[in-house]
Amino acid sequence: MGNHKQGRNLSLEEMDKQSLLHPYTSITDHLEHGPMVIEKGHAARVTDTTGRDYIDAMGGLWCVNIGHGRQEMVDAITEQASKLAYYHLFFSMANEPAIRLADEVLRIAPDHMSKVFFCNSGSEANDTQVKISWYYNNLRGLPQKKKIISRHNGYHGVTAVAASMTGLPRNHKSFNLPLDGFLHVTSPHHYFNAEPGETEEEFSERLAKELEQTIEKEDPSTIAAFIAEPVMGAGGVITPPKGYFSRVQAILKKHDILFIADEVICGFGRLGTMFGSDMYELEPDMMSIAKGLTSAYVPMSAAIISEKVWEVLRDGSPETGPFAHGYTYAGHPLAAAAGLKTIEIMLREKLVDNAQKVGNYLQTRLKETFLDNPLVGEVRGVGMMAGVELVADKAKKIPFDPSAKIGPRITQLLLEEGVIHRAILNAYAYAPPLVMTESDVDEMIERDERAVRKLSDELAREGLWKAA
Ligand SMILES: Cc1ncc(COP(=O)(O)O)c(C=O)c1O
Repeated sequence: MGNHKQGRNLSLEEMDKQSLLHPYTSITDHLEHGPMVIEKGHAARVTDTTGRDYIDAMGGLWCVNIGHGRQEMVDAITEQASKLAYYHLFFSMANEPAIRLADEVLRIAPDHMSKVFFCNSGSEANDTQVKISWYYNNLRGLPQKKKIISRHNGYHGVTAVAASMTGLPRNHKSFNLPLDGFLHVTSPHHYFNAEPGETEEEFSERLAKELEQTIEKEDPSTIAAFIAEPVMGAGGVITPPKGYFSRVQAILKKHDILFIADEVICGFGRLGTMFGSDMYELEPDMMSIAKGLTSAYVPMSAAIISEKVWEVLRDGSPETGPFAHGYTYAGHPLAAAAGLKTIEIMLREKLVDNAQKVGNYLQTRLKETFLDNPLVGEVRGVGMMAGVELVADKAKKIPFDPSAKIGPRITQLLLEEGVIHRAILNAYAYAPPLVMTESDVDEMIERDERAVRKLSDELAREGLWKAA
């Protein structure tokens, strides 16, 4: 029984501390402060168990695109549950919502996408893509072509392969990662990584050269795939510099390297286009989707493969036998029903257009509000995704030392103002539900500005920062 006490007489907060190991949470801090328990949600707002309302500036974890508390989603899921709550897709079995959802996804995905392989999380979708790239090269008689290139600051999930592709030290440290054969190139963050005076195009050219040199040094015949988010999310909301992806794609094509677009955040309208690939004219060989696919009402993700990849799998099938990969819950009918309803709502309510319109408003208002703030180094983003970078020295672009704990401090102050954000090092992020209105944006930014002002005052008082 360990030291687990009976939960009956405990508060929810105490029970949580006794029973849950939380993802991405400091155990020490959690044991001291306990959880914040969210009880209900509606549109872009949620309420905690103390009755306090918050603007959900992150749409949960960049995922509740259609907004919280949609009764018609509940009805669609309930209806499916009462008819058939589970059947799988193994051994040629199927269920109707999974078939229909695959068809719908392909209808809105770029034309050259060909087949949908359902999984349950973004990590699983990316793991699947890597395994498909290995399988693909084995079938082509290229068994050496297996390494994967990703980028520092990229986020692709936490399973052993996905975490190896993720380019964040904390995901590697203490886990003996990355695995062999996973390489990382420079993050395309112009603000911090460009040389003084280097234009976006020049920076892109330099990064493209670095990629090509890495490929040549490793030997192109050993590299299977390159994975990238159209806009990096959890690594800091980093938009690609001008000309970056066109150069990268040309190099990948030249060396016969598959391009996996990790659309887990960018897909389903986040940037004001249906996919990030539409926004940046990407022609990926494979696309990973999750989050917005079901708006997180039920977990679901998918690895989409293009016709080029599909043809190799199909032609190799007589020799290899069954495609020996799959998750018990892949294509789960309840998740698929949620996915179908999400797409129906997105199209009916023109949420991609709303994300573009309100997203433009959000970007403009953020720039107007924060660009001249001496604590803010950069305001970046596109559509309904943004990041505000807080810096120790604006003129010299010097970040705060981690010991200043800027991330936790700003998120706490934002929470006190009634907005849930997420900190990424010294930046904080925005990825609200796509149903947000311009007046929601105004209210959110007004609160955010108060929190940033409070932080400036506190830091100045503590001698940790002073306005230049
Ligand atoms: C771009 C991207 N890829 C993959 C993942 C991993 O998804 P999951 O947490 O569902 O495994 C995430 C999660 O935030 C993500 O943002």
